Amino acid sequence: MYNKKNGRFSVPPFAAHKPSGGANEPYFRRKNMDWGMKNRLSQLIQPDGRCFFLPIDHGYFQGPTSCLEKPGETIQPLLPYCDALFVTRGVLRAAVDPVGSKPIILRVSGGTSVLGADLANEVLTTSIDEILRLNATAVGISIFVGSDYERESLMNLADIVNDCEDFGIPVMAVTAVGKELEKRDARYLALASRIAAELGARVVKTYWCKNFDKVTYGCPVPVVMAGGPKCETEKEVFEFVYDGMQNGAVGLNLGRNVWQNPHPVAMMRALHGIIHGNLTAKEAWDLFRELKGEAADHKGTRDGKRKK
Ligand code: 5RP
Repeated sequence: MYNKKNGRFSVPPFAAHKPSGGANEPYFRRKNMDWGMKNRLSQLIQPDGRCFFLPIDHGYFQGPTSCLEKPGETIQPLLPYCDALFVTRGVLRAAVDPVGSKPIILRVSGGTSVLGADLANEVLTTSIDEILRLNATAVGISIFVGSDYERESLMNLADIVNDCEDFGIPVMAVTAVGKELEKRDARYLALASRIAAELGARVVKTYWCKNFDKVTYGCPVPVVMAGGPKCETEKEVFEFVYDGMQNGAVGLNLGRNVWQNPHPVAMMRALHGIIHGNLTAKEAWDLFRELKGEAADHKGTRDGKRKK
């Protein structure tokens, strides 16, 4: 609803402003979805309607990103606090234990690097056979709205939706901005998110921005916040995550601000508190400092683990 007094959209809890299936029906219980699609979405978006994904896909265009040189080691202490991993097939096979694994969101776009001419010039990297073979719970793909490769990246999305819908596999669209970080405003992100949903994405991952309610209000599927480069302070991270959740996001897909922090487990647990424990930004910050203190008591630099 648009509030004339303050000029803002008030965004009710996610399920309440969605068009079908009754006011409080969770997204993944919708009658217009087949069992497989509902089942996979319910593995990602938890019964409280919220989700916390851990992305470790950065190497697909950045190479051995700082603190992600050995992805298997990075994720090991963080896994208990995430709902799913966002990862390429290469790192999945090399570094993730298939026994008792968290649900997998498989990154299926790529083909560019930070050294190349244009990060937006992506193609689909992974076939539907491979997606099925790896038992992915969902797939993720970037779109570059407004770039020279807008059409190609949107057609990548449409093509993978066509393939995945046949098998009940949800597609998460990532509204990427390449190196143009200034594009992260509500007008642009609302446009990109809506286009992603129109082309069939079941979940949209986009950046947090001021007036985030404008992004979620115009997007008919769940919106998950991405992180972006590491923030200067932890407090900033908790504040944007809390604000996004208050303004209609269903969850978070946060990488560098977790695993590049000197206290990644404390970060992960405090963010988990906002997503699944209804903590405020201040409460999460207090929890982070408490957990960080406990880790320091164990004489460590990365959550109590002594540097080798
Ligand atoms: C990289 C991605 C990442 O999943 C996304 O950017 C989230 O990671 P971070 O919080 O580090 O930005 O899509 O291509």
